[in-house]
Amino acid sequence: MTANTRTDDPSVDLDDIGTNPTSNPSFTDLIASRLSRRHLFGLGVGTAGTALLQACGGGGGGGGAGFPVLPPAPAPAPPAPAPAPAPGPAPATPMKLGFNAVAKSLADVVTVPAGYTASVLYRLGDPIAAGVAAYKNDGTDDATTYDRRAGDHHDGMTFFGMNASNKWDAASASRGLLAMNHEAITSLFLHPTGQTITGSGNAAVRTVSDEVLREFYLHGVSVIEVNKNGSAWSYKQDSSFNRRVHTLTEMQFSGPAAKTDYLKTKYSTDGSKTRGTLNNCANGTTPWGTYLTCEENWAGYFRRIAATDNPSRSAKEIASFTRYGVAGTGRELWATVTPDTADSIYGRWNTQVVGATATDDFRNGAHTYGWVVEIDPFNPSSTPKKRTALGRFGHEGACLGPVVAGKPLVWYMGDDSQNEYLYKFVSTKGWDAADVGGGMAAGDKYMDDGKLYVAKFNADGTGNWLELSLGVNGITSGNAAYPFADAADVVVNARLAADVAGATKMDRPEWTAVNPKNGEVYLTLTNNAARAIANTDAANPRYYNDPKGTAQTAQKGNPNGHVIRFADAGGNPAATTFNWDVYLFGARSTASADINLSNLVADNDFSSPDGMWFSQAAPGLLWLETDDGKYTDVTNCMLLGALPGKVGDGAAKTIINVDGATTATQATFVGKAPGTDGLRRFLVGPVDCEITGIAESGDGRALFVNIQHPGENTAKADIGDPSKYLSHWPQGGTARPRSATLVITKDDGGLIGL
Ligand code: FEO
Ligand code: CA
Ligand code: CA
Ligand code: CA
Repeated sequence: MTANTRTDDPSVDLDDIGTNPTSNPSFTDLIASRLSRRHLFGLGVGTAGTALLQACGGGGGGGGAGFPVLPPAPAPAPPAPAPAPAPGPAPATPMKLGFNAVAKSLADVVTVPAGYTASVLYRLGDPIAAGVAAYKNDGTDDATTYDRRAGDHHDGMTFFGMNASNKWDAASASRGLLAMNHEAITSLFLHPTGQTITGSGNAAVRTVSDEVLREFYLHGVSVIEVNKNGSAWSYKQDSSFNRRVHTLTEMQFSGPAAKTDYLKTKYSTDGSKTRGTLNNCANGTTPWGTYLTCEENWAGYFRRIAATDNPSRSAKEIASFTRYGVAGTGRELWATVTPDTADSIYGRWNTQVVGATATDDFRNGAHTYGWVVEIDPFNPSSTPKKRTALGRFGHEGACLGPVVAGKPLVWYMGDDSQNEYLYKFVSTKGWDAADVGGGMAAGDKYMDDGKLYVAKFNADGTGNWLELSLGVNGITSGNAAYPFADAADVVVNARLAADVAGATKMDRPEWTAVNPKNGEVYLTLTNNAARAIANTDAANPRYYNDPKGTAQTAQKGNPNGHVIRFADAGGNPAATTFNWDVYLFGARSTASADINLSNLVADNDFSSPDGMWFSQAAPGLLWLETDDGKYTDVTNCMLLGALPGKVGDGAAKTIINVDGATTATQATFVGKAPGTDGLRRFLVGPVDCEITGIAESGDGRALFVNIQHPGENTAKADIGDPSKYLSHWPQGGTARPRSATLVITKDDGGLIGL
């Protein structure tokens, strides 16, 4: 259930395409660790470093004033209590979910538990500057105003509390900057009758430049000032902090690939900059108070007709394009508008060789996307930076690990495509709280110099972080599949480096989240139609059929997804080993025991976990969001509240996978079943949406949640008949649907979820 379909072929879901041809890993080839699982679980994982402010996504983590920093702790260290530096009253002990489960629903509404109110805060097209008219939502709004309107497909977001001096203050309960991603577009509802296209196949072209300009602006990031007045939240239309970052915004490169041949284009002949960001999926934060936006399914936006372009390319270039899926007409056909402008705003999406040299065309255009981008929300005139040290892949998000003074900073990052990998970046420099508020200069210090690693999950419940650097783990000029030339080559082609290093192919790595109580890291694996019964492994153990509706359509592989978690050794996020188990398996509650391994019931069953975030105000409370197209015969997508335990709280289990007459066993490690005390459905969204993006005010008493692309699968032929729109949310009546941010409050003013 995603709008990431190809314009020339809507049946192609770009999220679902895997481009990993390797045979990594075969567990039978791996050397079993001599460490027993019991021994590993006995190691202390709750060091001092786990006690604070790893607000990867939703909260700005830490504050400009009184920034809580613990002293360096030797690792490994004995388990330590996790003091909660969070603002506001501490939650009740022991923590309990304090709401009644919301029932599964197919209604075109947002449902929250009794005692809660969900209000619409910020919708597609809403104006964010003085003098910009209200959004008409009929496809006729002036295209030139869209750089001052909310983008489409709201996704990952962070609330940066702001004090009266306009500085970052994580504890702020009533004022802040909400930074959010706008991943993609539902083009049908953006123009009078959807996209105007003539021709078909490789000859298909866009003919209305205003439509394309709207789409350029509707991708990217919003920064908006939000305020609480009484009990109601609103955004401030004329705030000087409001900003849109979109596909035309200038960005600088930093890190190993900056100013190298890989990034040279007609726009930047020295490879120092590019324009724009897009397909911004999940997000992240830094301890100095900036926002990270992550470029996910960027490859499909570029036009590269392989048959035409390949004769002009080296074998290495073709290997890279193939590995990243850079082939096709470009999903929105942006490169096809004629005539092009003098500054190539359309032609820059054509990543073919058309000029004499790399500085005459955009043959390297696809190299300029696929990065983690840093934005300083408190400085609206600052230039965003693409941090190339964190690698180039289908970045879902970048979750900051536990922050400890003097110790490296760590970000955990999923690569969301079938059979892709989990990565982490470890800074060279140790954290210095004096850098709080340091803006982009602090980013230069911590994010441009460090080590990139990829995860290998072993069959015995251990794991290894494999370094991705030139000269190690087979990443050399002698690597036959892809001879690496230099450090820039390694980050530009991080997937190829991870292949040779021997990373574990996962069931589509989405968000990561770090438990502030113990530093353990959670990773959603949303689903994987390409998982075969013959290549399940301990960390991706299920193969089954999820029968949808009465049609019993075969949806094989791992259609419902799971959530894996791990503890870096010794509670040290920079460690190169970890131990893991599967926290939770998505399933219909009616599925058989070898599918419904977490014993889900009617009040908490779900499919396709994606967004995920630990509350900072209520340490230990996990929010889980779904982006599902499998269980949608029964329910729209949802948000669940959870109180997870820890790695190793369950047991080893051997499950039986079934494919027709074929059966196979697979050993894995299953976390303790949550029951309804540990996992409960909190919200169900409107028809045909994804629930994604989550943040909270500094006191945890306002929860911000995004509703992405309601009604996105409405047929193009039905645009003239509103009665056939699959959703009219949030306006109702006959309106076109709009992605929007919700703000959820508890009617008694209490902490959300408890
Ligand atoms: Fe944009 Fe991986 O979800
Ligand atoms: Ca999406
Ligand atoms: Ca996502
Ligand atoms: Ca997804």
